[in-house]
Amino acid sequence: MPIRIFDGPDKLAQAAAELFVGRAALAMKAGGRLDVVLSGGSTPRRLFELLAEEPYCSRVDWEAVHFFWGDERTVPPDHPDSNFGAVNEALFSKLDLAEEQIHRIRAELADPDRAAAAYEAELRRHFGLSEGEVPRFDLVFLGMGADGHTASLFPGTAALEESERSAVAVWVEKLGTHRVTLTCPVFDNAACIVFLVTGQEKAETLRDVLEGAAEMPGYPVQLIRPRNGEVLWYIDKTAGRLLSRRRWDQ
Ligand code: 6PG
Repeated sequence: MPIRIFDGPDKLAQAAAELFVGRAALAMKAGGRLDVVLSGGSTPRRLFELLAEEPYCSRVDWEAVHFFWGDERTVPPDHPDSNFGAVNEALFSKLDLAEEQIHRIRAELADPDRAAAAYEAELRRHFGLSEGEVPRFDLVFLGMGADGHTASLFPGTAALEESERSAVAVWVEKLGTHRVTLTCPVFDNAACIVFLVTGQEKAETLRDVLEGAAEMPGYPVQLIRPRNGEVLWYIDKTAGRLLSRRRWDQ
């Protein structure tokens, strides 16, 4: 599993922007479209800002990019906690995208199960899928929490066991709120998963996940195993500080 450790969040974001540009070019050549899943939280914000700037912005055929989210909070799209809102402010507001390129999760709906079902229907429509088929994304950005959650697949939640649906609503006890999240079947069908992990509070979990003994307690992030795709880890030095030296010398 290629692991890159960066000197800080900005260097990590620059490398992630470079990766986005490169994968977008490949996807355009292959199928004429890039279907990308964006992660939430604070880590990817710098990436979104960089993609709106040079030397990245002009190297992407933006009209052929379709944006999705790995998860969303149950807040309106203009709420400070909205994962869509973060991208809208940092990137979309600087581009001239068509509405149909942006496939946000309408998690502000009163019924989160309905929001999840609507998102699944959007996935089926966009990818031309019949019931039960799973979308294949070209590029998926994911983060990781100190508890090993990714997207909104939190430890001890039913969403971890979801094997049929592509998106579900999940009650997250520790947050006292619902979330809407893509599920393992979708992530496991992706062509490329990139974990972006920063912050010293994640160092122990990252060591367990990347170097722990196989029988270590399973973290949700370890459930993500693309059958026919690659997994890349982009880590800043504070999150990677407990990884063995050999990783650093790569
Ligand atoms: C969310 C994310 C979540 C996030 C991790 C890391 O909606 O919060 O999808 O999975 O990626 O919690 O968040 P930070 O980047 O803020 O540490």
